Amino acid sequence: MTGPRERAAQLRAEIELHNRLYYVEDAPQITDAEYDRLFRELVELEREHPELATADSPTQRVGGAPAKDLAPVRHELPMLSIRTETDTQDSGAANFDARIRRELGLDASDPPVEYGAELKLDGLAISLRYEKGRLARAATRGDGEVGEDVTANVRTIHSIPLVLKGKAPDVLEVRGEIYMTRAAFERMNRRQAELGEKLFINPRNTAAGAVRQLDPKITAQRPLTFSAYGYGVIHGMRLPRRHSELLDAIEAFGVPVNQRRAVVHGAEGLVEYHARIRTERERLPFDIDGVVYKVNDLGWQRELGNVAREPRWAVAHKYPPQEEVTEVQAIEVQVGRTGTLTPVAKLKPVFVGGVTVSSATLHNEDELRRKDVWVGDTVVIRRAGDVIPEVVAVRAHGPRRAQDRFEMPTRCPVCGSPTVRVTGEAATRCTGGLYCKAQRRQTLLHFAYALDVRTLASLERMAEKSAANVHASIERSRRVELQRFIYALGIPGVGEEVAKLLARHFATLEAFRSADWPKLMADKEALRKDNAQRRKRGEPAREVPLEGIGPELAEAIDKFMHEPHNREVIERLARALAIVPVARRATPAGKTFVLTGSLAGMTREEAREALEARGHKVAASVSKKTDYVVAGAEAGAKLEKARSLRVPVIDEAKLREILRSGDAEA
Ligand code: IVH
Repeated sequence: MTGPRERAAQLRAEIELHNRLYYVEDAPQITDAEYDRLFRELVELEREHPELATADSPTQRVGGAPAKDLAPVRHELPMLSIRTETDTQDSGAANFDARIRRELGLDASDPPVEYGAELKLDGLAISLRYEKGRLARAATRGDGEVGEDVTANVRTIHSIPLVLKGKAPDVLEVRGEIYMTRAAFERMNRRQAELGEKLFINPRNTAAGAVRQLDPKITAQRPLTFSAYGYGVIHGMRLPRRHSELLDAIEAFGVPVNQRRAVVHGAEGLVEYHARIRTERERLPFDIDGVVYKVNDLGWQRELGNVAREPRWAVAHKYPPQEEVTEVQAIEVQVGRTGTLTPVAKLKPVFVGGVTVSSATLHNEDELRRKDVWVGDTVVIRRAGDVIPEVVAVRAHGPRRAQDRFEMPTRCPVCGSPTVRVTGEAATRCTGGLYCKAQRRQTLLHFAYALDVRTLASLERMAEKSAANVHASIERSRRVELQRFIYALGIPGVGEEVAKLLARHFATLEAFRSADWPKLMADKEALRKDNAQRRKRGEPAREVPLEGIGPELAEAIDKFMHEPHNREVIERLARALAIVPVARRATPAGKTFVLTGSLAGMTREEAREALEARGHKVAASVSKKTDYVVAGAEAGAKLEKARSLRVPVIDEAKLREILRSGDAEA
């Protein structure tokens, strides 16, 4: 028998392991549902036994109580800055190498100097102090001598281990950058737009702002990531000879270190690295503002020392800017899928970051006013990665006649319906709902396509066989899963996640359409109060339905679903489409599948979703518990493992059969 204390420790270790596999190694071994189960068990256990709760429990990653201010922290070893090479050409790298050789007293006959080359991540510098393997404190750089204590916030960042892996030294200060990937940033902004909230400006500012929050719960909601590039105080560990080896050691402790680091030799090696990363820059999942070169030999680093706050042994080598200056020729308004009006600056075309840009977003009315952009102004625009180009600031005023000042339209430029701006929201919206073409475009494109083919098939007296083919394709394109349908409606505040939640709850379109939202919300509130009572009595709480949908969102959905235009369009769509209800989960009959190799007719992600929708589990690795391995083309090690464990291996056709019948007992 294990007591609660042992069980809590066991759960923490297990959760921490799966955290690392998921967030750091990108190789999860259990499903989200399994993870949730472990997590919930730990939450329950800590609630029943508050004395067992610890600051480094993974349950604390949701964020604790807000602070009044961020306490100052003096860095035992100062956090240095880095000298920037302003010459963005190859010669910038050569200059650095030449200076290093000179300062080390090397001459032409000495071999090339070895360097660690890394990305210069664009985020916020942080120092993480681990004591006996546990995260004890996290501090910002501040002025390099004194930073701010942001431990509570940093604990919410999943890629930062709360406990190091393996035999950790007494003290290890890891230094690195907290940043946000572009995808996470855009996802977050899409959500903000759906909710009609203010948009964040760029990943860097958002990451920095999130780390310096007083309320850790807010930090916890920001999708932040971390990557180590250096170290501070270290006790109880033998230092390797090279900087790159120290990063390898930090990585072995379970701390993420950027994978694009390299060890290179001489000016040539630096130039090559700089050029290679430049070509990859656009495709990187995050913003960088250059690369960093560091003399790899730690002995030489000490010898070279620092000037002021900058080490002589390191330099940042930038890339040509992704900003340009151009003129605003017009300001137009675009209407998005959820009816949000976005002002867009039409520009005199300029070449920036490798492409020609002729329009840039101004985000919303507040942003436009804050930057005070008028038609005819000369503006700075920025383009980073795949992010939509944006107007950063006004460089010089144009003539600024009255007609050059932009006003948000009072009528939707697409459908003519009145626009509204709800107080407290940044977005101005079209009130047309599905009556507005811009808002129903995505939904209806699909729909119109199905009808067109049908008309075609009947009009053109097609041969029997091809008519049958066309019919099959119509039938296929008519099928749409309830969650996708709900998402496609473009209800303000309903993104993919909320749509999924709604589909799971209501299961059919009919149930969703006829929902009594005020009653649902009242029931939910009553259930919450009842649960509070139950907890006091020590009874288990009952599950609260529609968790995550608050009264405001409920009201928005209710309003949308009652709007006559919307009702009419939904009615028509429902008749034309085959909306697939959410399958009841056949959990007890659920089998465990492992997918390997590539499938011809669907992606692995699609296969996974389809299996999970039918109550099956999809695991990442093959074990004796696996029921089936689905092998596609070029299946590798997992297939071999399946064979050696005698796990049944099925092909794509068999998988489709299982998906059709919903039953894996074949
Ligand atoms: S090393 C030894 N390496 O750039 C000097 N810094 O301008 C300490 N940064 O405050 C910094 N990526 O926030 C170093 N691979 C990298 C970096 C990096 C981003 C940031 C860091 C630092 C700033 C210096």
